[in-house]
Parts: sequence; C-alpha cells; structure tokens
Amino acid sequence: MKIITQDNSETFFNKKFNESYKSNTGAVQEAFEKFAKPAFEFVKNKKEINVLDFCFGLGYTTSAFLDLANCKISVTGIDNDDNIFDLIKQVNPEFKKYKLIKKLNKNNLTVFEGNIHIKIILDDAVKVIDSLPENFFDVVLFDPFSPKACPELWTGEVFKRIFALMKSGSILTTYSCARVVRENLKMAGFIVKDGPLVGRRGPSTIAEKK
Ligand SMILES: C[S@@+](CC[C@H](N)C(=O)[O-])C[C@H]1O[C@@H](n2cnc3c(N)ncnc32)[C@H](O)[C@@H]1O
Repeated sequence: MKIITQDNSETFFNKKFNESYKSNTGAVQEAFEKFAKPAFEFVKNKKEINVLDFCFGLGYTTSAFLDLANCKISVTGIDNDDNIFDLIKQVNPEFKKYKLIKKLNKNNLTVFEGNIHIKIILDDAVKVIDSLPENFFDVVLFDPFSPKACPELWTGEVFKRIFALMKSGSILTTYSCARVVRENLKMAGFIVKDGPLVGRRGPSTIAEKK
C-alpha cells in the first residue's frame, strides 16, 4: 500500500513486516538526513566511493547519496524481495538520480551511467555479506526493517561481518538508535555516535571504523 509521508514524498507500507519502507515523518527527508548526509560528510574528499546498501528497498537511501556525491561511485544493493522493482515503478521521489534506480528490474540488476555503477544482489542479506570482499566499502547505508521486525539483521555477528567488509576510515549510517543496536555495533568494533535528530523519534546512529 502506497503512503504519503509528512514531507509529501511517497513510500510503501509492507504488510508482511507491518512497517513502511521509510519514516512516516518524511521518506525523502529521512534518506538525506539520517543516511546520506552524515555518510557523505565523512567521505566527501574521496575520489572513488564504494557503497553497500544493506536492504535496498525502493532505493531512496542510495539515491540520496548519489545526489550528494559527484565522484566515481559503485553501489552494491542487497534485498531479498524482487517485488521491489514493481514498487519502484510506482513512486516518483524528487531525487535527481532516481531515473537510474528506475532502470533496474528483475532481469537487469545492474546499471552503469557515467561514473555511477549500481549492482543489486537479490538474496538474503546475511548470506550475501559472506560473499562480499573485505576491506572494500567506504560507506554502508544500513536500512533493514526495525530490530523488532527483523532482529536477525541487527545482530553482533552481522555487524562484525560488515565491519570486516569496510575499509579503515569508513562509515555506517542507520536510522535506529536502539540500545541493543548500538551495543552490537560497539561489540563489532565500531565507534558509535549520535546521528542527526530528524522527525519525532531519537537520533539516528553513525558508526565509524577507524
Ligand atoms: C526498510 S526497507 C528498506 C528501505 C530502503 N532502504 C529504501 O530506501 O527504500 C527494508 C528492506 O529490507 C528487505 N529485507 C527484509 N528482510 C531481508 C533479508 N533477510 N535480506 C535482504 N533484504 C531483506 C525488504 O524487502 C525491504 O525492501
């Protein structure tokens, strides 16, 4: 079911998980403020950026990041639901680069345009991270459904594996500030900080790999 969030941008409500893909306080706003801006601020001097989008969904988090950056970017997006491509067709968020996301479909999981490369892996995220290269990613946009709805994606083991995939001097951003999430991130080796406070809930979380 499509919903209009408080910044007038659209997203979908997922009945299976009983949650929306992005915050009701503003789908596009959340993508920029909680994910893309703090991540980009951290890596803005790099000439080449490898991004892991952990739970790609409608691709809003990736799009917000692409709109901020102007260098060579390679995005690896993971999602286990091939229905996302039908949902992507039905939304028109105001990202400059959303036209790239719209080119993706079940039979076309990669897009190359200019200095941007996007590759989607359609499988369970816990399984996929085992096969990705270590010391490779500069940015991780971590956006599963909530720790209540998907606890298996927010564990210390998952964060440890993601930590290994990241370069030193890299950053993970996520919307959740749940205590268990932050403890698991710290246990995995991250330095954990408050991210921006947007909407009505608590701050988001920024996790740095030194
Ligand atoms: C909160 S939504 C992601 C929103 C997305 N970042 C966006 O900008 O629209 C969570 C996504 O996780 C996916 N998902 C749920 N369980 C998963 C799993 N075990 N492995 C991979 N993806 C999963 C869902 O299909 C959904 O698209």
